[in-house]
Amino acid sequence: MYELVYHSKARSRINKSDITDILEISRANNKKYSITGCLIYFGKKFIQILEGDKSAVHNIYSKIEQDNRHFEVTLFYHGPKMNREFKKWSMGYFEGDNSIMQTKFGISENALLENSHRSKETVKEFWQSIKKIIE
Ligand SMILES: Cc1cc2nc3c(=O)[nH]c(=O)nc-3n(C[C@H](O)[C@H](O)[C@H](O)COP(=O)(O)O)c2cc1C
Repeated sequence: MYELVYHSKARSRINKSDITDILEISRANNKKYSITGCLIYFGKKFIQILEGDKSAVHNIYSKIEQDNRHFEVTLFYHGPKMNREFKKWSMGYFEGDNSIMQTKFGISENALLENSHRSKETVKEFWQSIKKIIE
């Protein structure tokens, strides 16, 4: 099992129906390739985790990187893991704002995106707290 987490900035014209489209195609494609994960949309930014076979994860990520609905797609963390965090989700979704990120996760956006926090443990704790909210 392999995981990849990235963050990106949404194009300013992004609206609800773009998000619905992204989730629809993601859920259909990810099911096909046994990918699970979660997408967070907050303050015009995305954070996403993809879980699955290494090659399947990288294939999907290379498509996502080229998608013009977002930009500055930045790899945050990737590596092997024992188990899927989002086994029930071909793509879970959570929408929030910066203050929710701070109060719910006790982690500010900047802290999360800083290099010094780019560890396997931080990533795991972060996604576990997201999972608690969406499940
Ligand atoms: C923020 C964001 C997240 C995305 N997540 C996924 C995803 O998890 N899986 C996926 O297949 N496509 C995802 N997409 C869509 C891809 O960029 C691409 O449009 C899609 O995979 C193309 O599918 P197709 O090759 O079947 O046309 C995402 C796009 C954006 C902007």
